[in-house]
Amino acid sequence: MAQPEHDEQSITATDKENSFRVGAAGVVKDGAQQVKLRRMGNSDLELSPLGLGCWQFSKGSGMVGKFWPVLNDADIASIVRTSLAGGINWFDTAEVYGGGRSEEALADALHAAGASPRETYIATKWWPIMRTAGSIPRTIDERLRRLKGWPIDLYQVHQPYSFSSATAEMNEMAKLAKAGRIRHIGVSNFSAAKMREADKALRAHGLRLTSNQVKYNLLDRRIERNGILDTAKELGVSIIAYSPLEQGLLSGKFHKNPALVKGITGPRKFSGGFKPAGLQRTQPLINRLDELAVKYGASPSQVALNWLIHANGETVFAIPGASKPHHAEENVRAMTFALGSDELRELAELSALCAKR
Ligand SMILES: NC(=O)c1ccc[n+]([C@@H]2O[C@H](COP(=O)([O-])OP(=O)(O)OC[C@H]3O[C@@H](n4cnc5c(N)ncnc54)[C@H](OP(=O)(O)O)[C@@H]3O)[C@@H](O)[C@H]2O)c1
Repeated sequence: MAQPEHDEQSITATDKENSFRVGAAGVVKDGAQQVKLRRMGNSDLELSPLGLGCWQFSKGSGMVGKFWPVLNDADIASIVRTSLAGGINWFDTAEVYGGGRSEEALADALHAAGASPRETYIATKWWPIMRTAGSIPRTIDERLRRLKGWPIDLYQVHQPYSFSSATAEMNEMAKLAKAGRIRHIGVSNFSAAKMREADKALRAHGLRLTSNQVKYNLLDRRIERNGILDTAKELGVSIIAYSPLEQGLLSGKFHKNPALVKGITGPRKFSGGFKPAGLQRTQPLINRLDELAVKYGASPSQVALNWLIHANGETVFAIPGASKPHHAEENVRAMTFALGSDELRELAELSALCAKR
């Protein structure tokens, strides 16, 4: 019988025994979970294998902001605080997430949690569509204003489509880096060829491309076949895996309770994976995630995230988003164990049978 979703309660880090220690004023104390950091690309950034995706902080506004339910400030603060306490030291946002409202909400939550820019990092993105590279220097002040003084550690070109070439965009990014307005440069949704073009353009300035943020999860492994992952490894560019839970599907909650799909407010419910046939196709993978979750005292989401951050050495970082505070609390614990090499391989084989892409 379908189980009711455990999902609707807000469980904050302080609610549960054995949760990460969070100080009375919300300041993360020394109880933060210890996580082995990894270097992002050729940069000097030492980051947790998981970052927090902050698209969900869009407050229902802007071009893509209605995709997720609107989160209130208390929940955003709790998600950020819980992520910090769980050992996450970086956050991914974008200009287009609520037209800057995600950046603002993130900066507010980081300040409220007592986080320091010396040890907590922000990646944001410039939106290129219907723009030229000239908009990069024109809009940087606005990005920094929205981030309320928090430095931009990684500035990414959000999409490969614009009126300018990748080379022209990288030339503008390089100028910002040289002027100390951003620290490192990344791209998102770039093909293997465009990654090469971007890295080459930056090398001409004595810089390197740090990362390519692309969709990657157990149900969408196209980057393993289209050259993006191999090129990233060859160039020493990190992959930042977005939608690492296939927008919630890999949690298994929709398989266990398909009625939940009707309650989705945004457009996710129209995608094939959420339809009855899609859920049926991916059920064998969810069953195996469930079994491994029992073995590791974990959840299926944690196992799916664990696979992502271990299946390719240290090349892949993942940025799960959270619609509720307890998602963040659950997801950070994916950094507390490591699947065995046989299990990594077995999940890859099973996912190849279930994944449509
Ligand atoms: N560069 C790009 O073009 C691009 C594109 C997409 C995303 N991104 C970035 O990647 C981040 C993550 O991607 P995403 O938000 O698309 O997908 P995701 O991380 O795969 O899924 C996030 C959603 O899954 C559900 N969820 C998360 N943890 C859960 C858990 N433990 N148990 C049950 N449900 C859980 C929640 O939705 P419900 O509770 O509503 O089901 C949550 O909002 C974004 O925040 C954004 O920063 C970038």
